[in-house]
Amino acid sequence: MITIKISAKPLYDIDTQGYIIPREHNFDSTHDKLIQSLKTFFPPLEEVLSQRGFTGAAGATCALAINHNNRPVYLIFVGLGSSKKSHEDKIEQYRRALGQAQRAAEGLKITELALDMPDSHWFNITNYTLAKETIITLTMASYHFDEFITDESRKLPENYTVTLVAPELLHDEIKIGIEHGTRIGFAVNQARYWCDLPPVVLTPTALANHAARVAKAHNLKITIFTEDEIIKQGMGGIEAVAKGSDQEARMVVIEYTTDHPNAPTIGLVGKGITFDSGGLSIKPAAGMETMKDDMAGAAAVISTMEALAHLKPQVNIIAVAPITENLISGHATKPGDIIRFYNGKTAEVKNTDAEGRLILADALSYAVKHYKLDAIINIATLTGSCAYALGPFFAGLMSQHPDLAHKLLESSRRSGDRLWELPFHDDYKIAVRSDVADLCNQGSNKYRAGAITAGFFLQNFVGDVPWAHLDVAGTSFDVPDRSYFRHGATGFGVRLFIDLVMNWNA
Ligand code: BES
Ligand code: MN
Ligand code: ZN
Repeated sequence: MITIKISAKPLYDIDTQGYIIPREHNFDSTHDKLIQSLKTFFPPLEEVLSQRGFTGAAGATCALAINHNNRPVYLIFVGLGSSKKSHEDKIEQYRRALGQAQRAAEGLKITELALDMPDSHWFNITNYTLAKETIITLTMASYHFDEFITDESRKLPENYTVTLVAPELLHDEIKIGIEHGTRIGFAVNQARYWCDLPPVVLTPTALANHAARVAKAHNLKITIFTEDEIIKQGMGGIEAVAKGSDQEARMVVIEYTTDHPNAPTIGLVGKGITFDSGGLSIKPAAGMETMKDDMAGAAAVISTMEALAHLKPQVNIIAVAPITENLISGHATKPGDIIRFYNGKTAEVKNTDAEGRLILADALSYAVKHYKLDAIINIATLTGSCAYALGPFFAGLMSQHPDLAHKLLESSRRSGDRLWELPFHDDYKIAVRSDVADLCNQGSNKYRAGAITAGFFLQNFVGDVPWAHLDVAGTSFDVPDRSYFRHGATGFGVRLFIDLVMNWNA
């Protein structure tokens, strides 16, 4: 938990253990009021900064211990990088700088911090947005998954206090930013937590129970289909994937409804494989443990709903999460099996490891059949192909609806959950045709582009609803070099979806 305070006092009058001081590259210390006033406590400040080579360059950190009223305090300088970068790059560099400051505090073993808020004009954003981004990022940076570590000396602190220092005039705006940022940061970390839980704990029923708890706490309507109900309704995709596992499958549907008249309705569908062994088309042993994160899409949509219940957008949202394990037993689906989905279409299961598209097919069909949707977006750790093509920093966006793709790209630039559009041209469509069924769950080798052909498989289940597919296989866990992440889950999609929904009518 981070307790946020706000103050208009001079930074060094705040009673705290560490002062976070972000500065742009090549800042002018002689005209920097804060630097000049800090020199009354620590006269050689400018010399020390220059001797340590701190210029405010992107990625730079410099923590100095000084004496403040006979107490040791730390000045934690972090670099914001060049002012010539794009606004979105500058905000991202600010996020990284905050992450570095948080890591520095961790190393110094201090938990009380004051932040000299930078000028929002430098980023071309409002003070509301700057405060919101600040809190989201500090919350993300402080997340750690150590509940199964018993050695107390390896555990990190749970609670931080951060005082934002900004002129009184801005406090009202900043307070709303703090409130929203707290909700969004919590939702991101909750999605990360569900991903990081081992698959023996986060079973399909456990994830569905988390969804039920979230919905109940916030008066959201929820429907949870049991495996029997899934099978009875003809959801042959979820059934086929769940068959090899002793754990029961679930499908979760959560609804947020605004009382605003004529509000649009958006569907969010997330892949919820709580462990993906590949099934009979078994995965290699190396790295298989990361497949506990194969429910990152479902976690993102469920956790997004919790934040939205607080933020109350003037948009209706339907979140759908098909949840199951992909395991092996004498009952498991076999390569060569043919299955029938909720919308009546059939597919040959050539590779049981291409299971995400099978469960999403039913979930998408269900969403477009039962709701009048203005748009539907699915999020899935769907293909290794996408992870290889784009790496860990951008998720794949596939859509044939330019307005929706545009909205998503705008949200991606604002939120920090970055997307890159892949060519989603009809030429690839034929790659998922089967000789013996309507579709084949593995794209033909001839067409190679595995991320795109997976997208075209899903296209068969969305009817005429404007649709976008997000492949987050590369961005959902183990993202390197980001100070506000660690090894483990990232919560990718939560910030993106919240931004999308909050700005939908703009
Ligand atoms: N969950 C995996 C995709 C994945 C790979 C996610 C790496 C995160 C990191 C998915 O179910 C899968 O196994 N996809 C196959 C599809 C193929 C068999 C057509 C893949 O990408 O190899
Ligand atoms: Mn798989
Ligand atoms: Zn999978």
